[in-house]
Amino acid sequence: MADISKIIREAAVKAQRETDSEPEGKLTGECKFPIVCEVGGGLEGAIACGTSIGYVNGTKGWLVYRGYNCFDLAEHSSFEETSYLLLFGKLPTAKELADFKKNLASYAPLPREVVDVLSSVPTAKTHPMSALRTGVSVLGMLDDNAEDTSVEAETEVAIKLIAQMGPLAGAIARLRQGQKPVAPDPSLSLSGNFLYTMTGKKPDADYERIMDVSLILHADHGMNASTFTSMVVNSSLSDMYSSITAGIGSLKGPLHGGANERVLHDLDEIGSADKVDKWFAEARKAKRRVMGFGHRVYKAYDPRARILGPLADMMTQGTKHRTLYETAVKLDGVVCSELGAEKKIFPNVDFYSGLVYRAMGIETAMFTPIFAVSRISGWCARVLEYLAGNRIFRPRAIYTGPTKAEYVPVGQR
Ligand code: CMC
Repeated sequence: MADISKIIREAAVKAQRETDSEPEGKLTGECKFPIVCEVGGGLEGAIACGTSIGYVNGTKGWLVYRGYNCFDLAEHSSFEETSYLLLFGKLPTAKELADFKKNLASYAPLPREVVDVLSSVPTAKTHPMSALRTGVSVLGMLDDNAEDTSVEAETEVAIKLIAQMGPLAGAIARLRQGQKPVAPDPSLSLSGNFLYTMTGKKPDADYERIMDVSLILHADHGMNASTFTSMVVNSSLSDMYSSITAGIGSLKGPLHGGANERVLHDLDEIGSADKVDKWFAEARKAKRRVMGFGHRVYKAYDPRARILGPLADMMTQGTKHRTLYETAVKLDGVVCSELGAEKKIFPNVDFYSGLVYRAMGIETAMFTPIFAVSRISGWCARVLEYLAGNRIFRPRAIYTGPTKAEYVPVGQR
């Protein structure tokens, strides 16, 4: 396989070259309420809180976690280290990282009851995101400390969930195939264990590294719908398990994490690069959204897609998936030239990630759970940050109905 770090470095250089002249915009600085801002539908433009966890610059196409750009983290960090960075605000020392990994490994095995519950409901027939949501909910019921909503207790739950999300998704993948879940191997990394618990085989080193890069890239992304959902739930001083269960429900939707799965359905439907023009023209005519394109914040090429695209290229070379990759590249070009300049629509993280997973032999329905295995770190970090100065989220709606309706008894209506 080609040099993965080199691919990431080249993507970083290309990103810098192409976005250098874009204005920086301003969404950094002190957050002092009340803030005067224009709010659009879907809370577009609204500022919910201040944060030092991550920053998305939509015009420049930057993604930054705690000050470090995503290209550097993808090239040099690991998912464990990135999770530590998100949770605790700094890169760990060697000892802190070793202790963190030990802690994660001790929490990774799933309680037997979780597998029992998932085995007794139709896990094979339901969407794996629904099974994941159920699994996290059961984990909460089994945790004696689940109702302790102090920052300290919730931090411990966060570490447990970061450790368990991979094995849980892995167990669901196996139950879907009628196979028995396998216990995580404490000697493996989070990415390695995720692949291991999904396949039952020790992962190939390149696949493990590529999964790690993907988990780093998906770990946090501003006030996206699932992160905000988790924060809203936790702001009532509910509990971390309820908050994450809700976040999983939000991520599942096709406008959010569920898009990665839909992209592959579209590419499969198109079939080959020469059919892209016709397919796209029909999609435009039917006013259909092209999955894996567009973003509320990015009005530039998503930096995560800049890395995942070349990784998909590398992974599919000389394989039966090459036609699919060529179809994707053609669609990328057509959408960017038709909608890029006019509407600022470019590929987002979900466009190439599925191709990478497909090339690894992972079932399409499992793509969105992979997103959750990663985003658990961002969800927990943001929930904990907000919890430290918690105020319940409670926006208002503008009432547009009547106010003086006269009550008519049922028999007279
Ligand atoms: N294909 C075609 N047109 C699009 C697309 C798309 N994927 N996305 C936006 N547009 C058009 C939209 O029709 C609208 O046009 P007009 O102004 O003529 O009505 C314009 O662009 C603005 O769209 P919007 O609906 O106001 O954008 P939004 O910020 O509300 O929605 C989005 C953002 C990501 C939900 C949307 O771009 C979309 O539906 N994309 C496809 C689904 C997808 O890929 N989701 C993954 C998002 S990134 C990772 C994640 O969150 O999981």
